[in-house]
Amino acid sequence: MPVSFRVNGEVVTVDVPADMPLLWVLRDVLDLKGTKFGCGISQCGACTVHIDGTATRSCRTRIETVADRNVTTIEGLSPDGSHPVQQVWRELDVPQCGYCQAGQIMAAAALLAENPAPSDDDIDRALDRNLCRCGTYLRIREGIHRAAATITDETAQRGGGAS
Ligand code: FES
Ligand code: FES
Repeated sequence: MPVSFRVNGEVVTVDVPADMPLLWVLRDVLDLKGTKFGCGISQCGACTVHIDGTATRSCRTRIETVADRNVTTIEGLSPDGSHPVQQVWRELDVPQCGYCQAGQIMAAAALLAENPAPSDDDIDRALDRNLCRCGTYLRIREGIHRAAATITDETAQRGGGAS
């Protein structure tokens, strides 16, 4: 079944079974390997991408449901790794083995887009089901606070974000 959708700003059409998970399409058809397979049952968050800006588990998203929608993967979060979350992740050396981190970054970016000043509780709730076997949770939380501060500063420098 042909399905057209936008990935990282580009329209693509794939001809795959309607129930194929988006994660399979991203990794095996479109060769976007940054999004990881962890559990395959919506439990770990390694496969998190944005669909129309919302953090979504691609392992349990049927490809037919993304027709005409906008999918953003870790490769498309910024053109050059300059998204505030990515910058802070490098500054703080957040990753350990790194396997979960694309999902963590995508979840963090979606949270900050919705809530530019999240509390610890907000962060814990939003990333509650993004698991990290290396236990980087404290650095993730610190990173999100630091990225939030960066975004707030940038917005202030641009004149309060009014547009
Ligand atoms: S691989 Fe999708 S939630 Fe674990
Ligand atoms: S950094 Fe290793 S699983 Fe999270």
